[in-house]
Amino acid sequence: MAVTRTFSIIKPDATARNLTGAVTQALEEAGLRVVASKRIRMTREQAEAFYAVHRERPFFGDLVSFMISGPVVVQVLEGEDAVARNREVMGATNPADAAEGTIRKRFAQSIEANSVHGSDSEENAATEIAFFFEPGEIVG
Ligand code: CMP
Repeated sequence: MAVTRTFSIIKPDATARNLTGAVTQALEEAGLRVVASKRIRMTREQAEAFYAVHRERPFFGDLVSFMISGPVVVQVLEGEDAVARNREVMGATNPADAAEGTIRKRFAQSIEANSVHGSDSEENAATEIAFFFEPGEIVG
Protein backbone atom coordinates (compact mmCIF):
# COMPACT_ATOMS: atom_id res chain seq x y z
CA MET A 1 0.00 0.00 0.00
CA ALA A 2 1.35 3.41 -0.95
CA VAL A 3 1.87 6.39 1.35
CA THR A 4 -0.68 8.99 0.28
CA ARG A 5 -2.28 12.18 1.59
CA THR A 6 -5.77 13.19 2.60
CA PHE A 7 -7.43 16.37 3.84
CA SER A 8 -9.11 16.77 7.22
CA ILE A 9 -11.11 19.47 9.00
CA ILE A 10 -11.64 19.57 12.75
CA LYS A 11 -15.05 21.26 12.78
CA PRO A 12 -16.41 24.09 14.99
CA ASP A 13 -18.22 21.76 17.40
CA ALA A 14 -14.91 20.08 18.20
CA THR A 15 -12.77 23.24 18.45
CA ALA A 16 -15.46 24.78 20.71
CA ARG A 17 -15.15 21.84 23.12
CA ASN A 18 -11.32 22.01 23.09
CA LEU A 19 -11.06 18.66 21.29
CA THR A 20 -8.37 19.62 18.76
CA GLY A 21 -5.76 17.63 20.65
CA ALA A 22 -7.98 14.61 21.27
CA VAL A 23 -9.02 14.40 17.61
CA THR A 24 -5.44 14.84 16.43
CA GLN A 25 -4.27 12.14 18.85
CA ALA A 26 -6.86 9.73 17.44
CA LEU A 27 -5.63 10.48 13.90
CA GLU A 28 -1.99 9.96 14.90
CA GLU A 29 -2.78 6.74 16.76
CA ALA A 30 -4.44 5.51 13.56
CA GLY A 31 -1.09 5.86 11.79
CA LEU A 32 -1.70 9.21 10.13
CA ARG A 33 0.91 11.97 10.29
CA VAL A 34 -0.10 15.66 10.37
CA VAL A 35 2.11 17.20 7.67
CA ALA A 36 0.26 20.55 7.60
CA SER A 37 -2.14 22.19 10.04
CA LYS A 38 -3.70 25.61 10.59
CA ARG A 39 -6.52 27.00 12.68
CA ILE A 40 -8.67 29.33 10.61
CA ARG A 41 -12.05 30.99 10.56
CA MET A 42 -13.61 30.07 7.20
CA THR A 43 -15.38 32.82 5.32
CA ARG A 44 -18.89 32.20 3.98
CA GLU A 45 -17.47 32.30 0.44
CA GLN A 46 -14.84 29.68 1.30
CA ALA A 47 -17.37 27.36 2.96
CA GLU A 48 -19.80 27.69 0.04
CA ALA A 49 -17.05 26.93 -2.45
CA PHE A 50 -15.60 24.07 -0.44
CA TYR A 51 -19.00 22.36 -0.14
CA ALA A 52 -20.22 23.38 -3.63
CA VAL A 53 -20.94 19.74 -4.48
CA HIS A 54 -23.71 19.84 -1.83
CA ARG A 55 -25.20 23.14 -3.07
CA GLU A 56 -28.53 21.58 -4.08
CA ARG A 57 -28.92 19.53 -0.88
CA PRO A 58 -31.51 20.73 1.66
CA PHE A 59 -28.87 20.92 4.40
CA PHE A 60 -26.47 23.17 2.42
CA GLY A 61 -27.41 26.48 4.09
CA ASP A 62 -27.21 25.06 7.60
CA LEU A 63 -23.95 23.29 6.76
CA VAL A 64 -22.32 26.53 5.59
CA SER A 65 -23.62 28.47 8.62
CA PHE A 66 -22.27 25.78 10.93
CA MET A 67 -18.85 25.67 9.29
CA ILE A 68 -18.39 29.43 9.73
CA SER A 69 -19.81 29.51 13.28
CA GLY A 70 -16.38 29.09 14.88
CA PRO A 71 -12.76 28.22 14.17
CA VAL A 72 -11.81 25.06 12.32
CA VAL A 73 -8.46 23.29 12.01
CA VAL A 74 -7.59 22.28 8.45
CA GLN A 75 -4.97 19.56 8.14
CA VAL A 76 -3.12 17.46 5.60
CA LEU A 77 -2.65 13.88 6.78
CA GLU A 78 -0.15 11.45 5.36
CA GLY A 79 0.05 7.68 5.76
CA GLU A 80 -0.52 4.28 4.19
CA ASP A 81 -3.72 4.52 2.14
CA ALA A 82 -4.52 7.78 3.94
CA VAL A 83 -8.02 8.45 2.50
CA ALA A 84 -9.38 5.06 3.56
CA ARG A 85 -7.49 5.03 6.87
CA ASN A 86 -8.89 8.44 7.78
CA ARG A 87 -12.44 7.45 6.85
CA GLU A 88 -12.09 4.37 9.00
CA VAL A 89 -10.94 6.31 12.08
CA MET A 90 -13.57 9.07 11.51
CA GLY A 91 -16.52 6.66 11.37
CA ALA A 92 -19.84 7.14 9.58
CA THR A 93 -21.07 10.67 8.74
CA ASN A 94 -24.00 10.24 11.12
CA PRO A 95 -22.61 9.52 14.61
CA ALA A 96 -25.66 7.33 15.26
CA ASP A 97 -24.25 4.94 12.63
CA ALA A 98 -20.58 5.27 13.58
CA ALA A 99 -18.64 2.28 14.90
CA GLU A 100 -17.42 2.14 18.51
CA GLY A 101 -14.10 3.88 19.05
CA THR A 102 -14.31 6.09 15.97
CA ILE A 103 -13.89 9.87 16.27
CA ARG A 104 -17.52 10.58 15.37
CA LYS A 105 -18.83 7.94 17.77
CA ARG A 106 -16.71 9.39 20.57
CA PHE A 107 -17.13 13.11 19.91
CA ALA A 108 -19.80 14.02 17.34
CA GLN A 109 -23.04 15.63 18.49
CA SER A 110 -25.17 15.24 15.34
CA ILE A 111 -24.88 14.57 11.59
CA GLU A 112 -24.12 18.29 11.16
CA ALA A 113 -21.93 18.82 14.24
CA ASN A 114 -19.96 15.67 13.43
CA SER A 115 -16.55 16.93 14.58
CA VAL A 116 -14.50 16.07 11.47
CA HIS A 117 -14.49 16.14 7.70
CA GLY A 118 -12.31 13.84 5.61
CA SER A 119 -11.83 13.55 1.85
CA ASP A 120 -13.77 10.72 0.20
CA SER A 121 -11.31 9.97 -2.63
CA GLU A 122 -7.70 10.65 -3.55
CA GLU A 123 -8.85 12.95 -6.34
CA ASN A 124 -10.96 15.04 -3.95
CA ALA A 125 -8.14 14.97 -1.38
CA ALA A 126 -5.82 16.66 -3.87
CA THR A 127 -8.46 19.30 -4.69
CA GLU A 128 -9.30 19.94 -1.03
CA ILE A 129 -5.63 20.17 0.01
CA ALA A 130 -4.97 22.70 -2.76
CA PHE A 131 -8.03 24.70 -1.64
CA PHE A 132 -6.44 25.51 1.73
CA PHE A 133 -2.68 24.96 1.43
CA GLU A 134 0.23 26.15 -0.67
CA PRO A 135 2.70 23.35 -1.47
CA GLY A 136 5.35 25.03 0.72
CA GLU A 137 3.08 24.81 3.80
CA ILE A 138 3.09 21.00 3.65
CA VAL A 139 6.10 19.55 5.41
CA GLY A 140 6.21 15.78 5.17
P1 CMP B 1 -18.77 16.27 5.65
O1 CMP B 1 -17.91 15.05 5.52
O2 CMP B 1 -18.11 17.50 6.13
O3 CMP B 1 -19.48 16.57 4.24
C1 CMP B 1 -20.72 17.25 4.15
C2 CMP B 1 -21.37 17.44 5.47
O4 CMP B 1 -22.73 17.77 5.45
C3 CMP B 1 -21.29 16.16 6.26
O5 CMP B 1 -19.95 15.92 6.66
C4 CMP B 1 -22.28 16.43 7.38
O6 CMP B 1 -21.69 16.99 8.53
C5 CMP B 1 -23.21 17.49 6.78
N1 CMP B 1 -24.60 17.07 6.74
C6 CMP B 1 -25.61 17.69 7.36
N2 CMP B 1 -26.77 17.05 7.12
C7 CMP B 1 -26.48 15.98 6.33
C8 CMP B 1 -27.27 14.94 5.74
N3 CMP B 1 -28.58 14.86 5.93
N4 CMP B 1 -26.62 14.01 4.99
C9 CMP B 1 -25.28 14.09 4.77
N5 CMP B 1 -24.49 15.07 5.31
C10 CMP B 1 -25.09 16.00 6.09
